[in-house]
Amino acid sequence: MVARVVATTHLPGDPARLLDGHTWIGPAAGEDAWPRARWLSELAHPETRALVCLLSDHIDGAALDTNPALRVVANYAVGVDNVDLTAATARDVAVANTPDVLVEASADFTFALLLAAARRLGEGERLVRAGAWRGWTPDLLLGAEVGGRTLGILGLGRIGRAVARRARGFGMTVLYTRGAPPGDVAATEVPLTELLAGSDFLSIHCPLTPATRGLVDARALAARKPGAILVTTARGAIVDEGALADALGRGHLGGAGLDVFTDEPQIDPRLLAAPRLVLAPHLGSATTSARTRMAELCVTAVRDVLSGRRPANLVNGDALAARGRAW
Ligand code: DGY
Repeated sequence: MVARVVATTHLPGDPARLLDGHTWIGPAAGEDAWPRARWLSELAHPETRALVCLLSDHIDGAALDTNPALRVVANYAVGVDNVDLTAATARDVAVANTPDVLVEASADFTFALLLAAARRLGEGERLVRAGAWRGWTPDLLLGAEVGGRTLGILGLGRIGRAVARRARGFGMTVLYTRGAPPGDVAATEVPLTELLAGSDFLSIHCPLTPATRGLVDARALAARKPGAILVTTARGAIVDEGALADALGRGHLGGAGLDVFTDEPQIDPRLLAAPRLVLAPHLGSATTSARTRMAELCVTAVRDVLSGRRPANLVNGDALAARGRAW
């Protein structure tokens, strides 16, 4: 059967060419991502079997119920907090994501953010562009040294390990909480309290789950050393944004770099007003190569499921197996 594959946005690299004859339905190049009502109406078509979605699309039970024949949701992201995995599993819908191919891009961007926050690059850029720079002075925008300091990684998964490898190049000591044993990466596991108190830089890489939502709250921020820096490329809701703005405003933290926000693309006004904060519009994986390969992984997962094969990046494989799903 030729199935309809609905994509909520246009993806780079013409991934539809990999679809093995199935029909790609989605916005054209240059068109905005479809709003929920639009992609829901395409999803409801009786010949739709697959959905390729973004991290900003909420795939809940109501969406899944529009089409009982849906077989697979391919999330164009490694984080799957936007997908109700329980609801998908209960409807025998496979959920796939895009790990690995974005690791190096995300780790590079984390380091860009860390360096930018440490060296106040955003403030410097704004000063120059505003025509307000009055020339070299010994005390202009003094920042923090990075080399030889201690980096704490909250969530030592694939991206966290790639960040840890980069940190070693800067002569940093690496601590971590949550995650896999370091393997080839020199990093020491410590309890969260020690991570917070002992690191000069903290970088967040854990997924957003009920256990990590709001994990970096006012108490956690207060436990950090004065002048410490926080960066995150994970998910905004792991950090209490109001508490972060407050810690920056009081001068307790020396800086922060945020690539992700609780309510994207809205930015909490307290963050916009906070000093020493570098803001980026969720660019962690934004290289041409990573984004193209993410699209290919989504389409490969769709093609696998539609051909009766288990996709390589199946997120709810164990839960589906527990329901007796065999590939
Ligand atoms: C992800 O993959 O989860 C990132 O946030 C976007 O690449």
